[in-house]
Amino acid sequence: MKYLFYILLFFFSSVLFAISPYSAKVDSLLNIMTLDEKIGQMNQYTGSFLATGPLSDDTTIVAQIIAGRVGSMLNIIGTKNTRMMQEIAMKSRLKIPLIFGLDVVHGYKTTFPIPLGEAASFDIGLAEKSARVAATEAASAGTHWTFAPMIDVSRDARWGRVMEGGGEDTWLTTQIAKAKVKGYQGTNLKDKNTIMACAKHFIAYGAPIAGKDYNTVDISLQTLHNVYLPPFKAAANSGIGSFMNSFNELNGIPCTGNQYILRDLLKGNWGFNGFVVSDWGSVAEMVQHGFVNDKEDAAQAALLAGCDMDMESRSYTQHLKKLVETGKVSATLIDDAVKRILIKKIELGLFDNPFAYCDEELEKRTLLSPENRLEAREVAKKSIVLLKNSDNVLPISKTLKSILLVGPLMKSKEDMLGFWACEKDIASAVTPYEAILKNLPQSKVNYAEGYSLIGNQLINLKETVRKAKQSEVIVVAIGERWNETGEAKSKGNIIVPAEQQMLVTELAKTGKPIILLVMGGRPLIFNEAAQSASVILVTWWLGSEAGNAIFDVLVGNYNPSGRLPMTFPKYMGQLPIYYNYNNTGRPEQKDVSYSSKYIDIDSQPAYPFGFGLSYSTFEYSDLKLNHYFAHTDQTTTVTITVKNTGKVSGNEIVQLYIRDLVASITRPVKELKGIEKVFLQPGESKTVSFQLSPEELGFWGNDLTYKVEEGVFEIMAGGNPNQLLKSWLTLKNE
Ligand code: BGC
Repeated sequence: MKYLFYILLFFFSSVLFAISPYSAKVDSLLNIMTLDEKIGQMNQYTGSFLATGPLSDDTTIVAQIIAGRVGSMLNIIGTKNTRMMQEIAMKSRLKIPLIFGLDVVHGYKTTFPIPLGEAASFDIGLAEKSARVAATEAASAGTHWTFAPMIDVSRDARWGRVMEGGGEDTWLTTQIAKAKVKGYQGTNLKDKNTIMACAKHFIAYGAPIAGKDYNTVDISLQTLHNVYLPPFKAAANSGIGSFMNSFNELNGIPCTGNQYILRDLLKGNWGFNGFVVSDWGSVAEMVQHGFVNDKEDAAQAALLAGCDMDMESRSYTQHLKKLVETGKVSATLIDDAVKRILIKKIELGLFDNPFAYCDEELEKRTLLSPENRLEAREVAKKSIVLLKNSDNVLPISKTLKSILLVGPLMKSKEDMLGFWACEKDIASAVTPYEAILKNLPQSKVNYAEGYSLIGNQLINLKETVRKAKQSEVIVVAIGERWNETGEAKSKGNIIVPAEQQMLVTELAKTGKPIILLVMGGRPLIFNEAAQSASVILVTWWLGSEAGNAIFDVLVGNYNPSGRLPMTFPKYMGQLPIYYNYNNTGRPEQKDVSYSSKYIDIDSQPAYPFGFGLSYSTFEYSDLKLNHYFAHTDQTTTVTITVKNTGKVSGNEIVQLYIRDLVASITRPVKELKGIEKVFLQPGESKTVSFQLSPEELGFWGNDLTYKVEEGVFEIMAGGNPNQLLKSWLTLKNE
């Protein structure tokens, strides 16, 4: 049985690599490589910068590179350092270049909004654009490979890493995944403004029990296929060069050693021909999981499963050779892994010129260039979500006499950049305070600290209120700090500190309009402040141009169009809360006690997925299908007309949802299947059209086959998830 597996693997890998034009070249290299050199290619070490896990005390990295025992390094920053390390690699017997990886998550030096914020733009084009700029900057600075995009669907705001992905929706995250691969990788990895992307974290890392980072994931296989896998499959189909396995276990098997996930599904079923890197130390962590006895077993389990490169656990370098020599793992598996890695190095052009990405002049010209900053501002302003605008307080006039800015976040450069701000240049970030001060020369701009971020204390309330009374408008920044969301930043409480909220209430008592800027990397709860404020803008962490983007929205240079990519809960007890849940046999009914709800809190969120306002208003009409009865293999065209009924022009995000009313497994009450951004002048109407293909209407059943079933589908479309127009489509098999 075991041998049959290797024979099949050999067969499939030769078919797979026959597709690569570099297969023969790599084969001839493999022929002259020693086993140690092969294992070396499967080994990745970190530089000292940006370590996210325990660092090994190994001081012989240079010697190991020269001995051909290192294939890749992460966290080597800049052309100078990458050149230096590559020069060392060129002293090795076979001169196989190192590949340098880095977490270029939302920009390299020019920082874009955190991915969750960017997802709020509901603009897939922007996801590609920001990745393009990031790739251009990173490649100019010697990086070949980014550990991005993070495309973990995540439905639990307690999990710190929600900031890093596209939010709670599978369809939206899938579109983002495709766009990011295109943005990072371009059309040719050899181009000196592209880098290889990495789909992470494979898989279901975003579903940890209780929202605690690294925690156990236990979900059904149909949920895995319907909710968590689609973005990864899309990334694989888009030609992404690498995958990273996740830390978590899935249904009892750590993903690093999960043959079903890596070997059968990714490399087998999906035909992925790139390579898989472990997450930081995750090979050895299988010991702690209780899945293997020791690091040797861990190396064996990871290799058999399909993990090609060991990030920082040293399990491969320490144990693979013995495992091969004792026949516990086959040399064919090693060759398969090395071949996958070497092909990517060739595709990146590293064998043509190992120093191709080491051009210091280009690096200087590219990083934080005015064009890149302009792109960052564009994405940032489109990522802002307007949740409330009582009495049309916004936009404010550019000739206001006075304005009071409150809160330390208003002036904090580092917080503008957010977590995972790669090669961040804190000084280059523009804060709202700076932008408003500079761009409202006719106004007196006052500032009050109001509260402290450390210790959460009110600071000189009397004085803050006094300043408020002297100002026409008050802008208060509340929320969390850049390092309160991200890896290992799960929270048991996502309520904005009481003092910050109380301050908003006290300021509102002055009768002056309060504009709230909610900053952070996850959905937050701020019911009291929300009630007191006239305006709520969710501004996430918007990156280098945060302040300018916020200014653009405050004064109406940009009419906000962002939408929430995650549900904002009202109470902690609601978590995890997400819009596309399955119905129960006793759906919530207000006056029925034995229905699905809480006895002590409301079940409804504070703000639903897809919600966001504009300075204009939009009206929807004429939701039409090209047919109301169709065959299960037919595509349906859905059209809807949207009119700008307000006084200013603006972008509207038209959303399309479906509900499969009856199916062989129960389906969500609502599933996003399309978005379209339309720009409308006041009074203007446009008809928007969506294509609903069988693929959009189907699902994975418990038997893990994909099916489009007969029956009635509710089709819902509009701009406000609470007010969608409805129609019905009936599918038949004959
Ligand atoms: C994270 C990965 C990251 C890696 C390298 C890990 O701790 O989970 O997302 O790519 O570190 O920095």
